[in-house]
Amino acid sequence: METLYSDPTTIYNSIWSFLEKGVVDRNSPFHTPTLITLESDHAAARTLVLRGVDKTAQTLRFHTDKRSKKIEQINVNQDALVHIYSQHDKLQLRLKSVLSLHVSEPLVDEAWEKSYGMSKICYQVSDTPGSVIKKPDGYEYLPEVNHDGKDNFIVILAKIVEIEWLYLSCDGHRRAKFTHNKSNELDVTWLVP
Ligand SMILES: Cc1cc2nc3c(=O)[nH]c(=O)nc-3n(C[C@H](O)[C@H](O)[C@H](O)COP(=O)(O)O)c2cc1C
Repeated sequence: METLYSDPTTIYNSIWSFLEKGVVDRNSPFHTPTLITLESDHAAARTLVLRGVDKTAQTLRFHTDKRSKKIEQINVNQDALVHIYSQHDKLQLRLKSVLSLHVSEPLVDEAWEKSYGMSKICYQVSDTPGSVIKKPDGYEYLPEVNHDGKDNFIVILAKIVEIEWLYLSCDGHRRAKFTHNKSNELDVTWLVP
């Protein structure tokens, strides 16, 4: 018997539980959301590992290279969408977000210290990610010139301003939008799925 969600609070809490689990469970589809940003007249999408979740602050944390294209885009336009689909949970989340960039703050130092060595290596690459090279392995890692990669490390926080939840079920689809009003109370709107 499938779970058929109808209580908004249950749904809202389940969304955050899925996200929190996504941080620690590498096999969860919530571990690797798609972050969609805007570049002038088109959208730019990429997979990022979900590194942290703060339900109270309604934020998601991502790590990336400060030289990457997405940072250029975010510097111009902070509006973004985080998209996740879980086949297992029959769930699509579209998280309308406002992004902020963080470079020299305690949260960045903490995120760097907690990163695995394998993850840190990505940031040691000498040239800008996405730049053209003459052959497939035409790049090198230079940890000695970028403080083991830390110079290129940046944290993106996505403050979620609207959640659109879609649950597909043979017992009846469900779709709802969650926002917070000025008093920080949860507003729920049911939508035709
Ligand atoms: C499973 C998976 C996880 C990824 N995780 C990250 C990540 O956490 N941070 C990151 O910067 N890029 C990550 N990438 C690479 C990005 O998808 C993307 O190619 C890269 O960040 C460059 O994006 P941009 O040119 O739009 O800035 C990941 C790719 C895959 C396939």
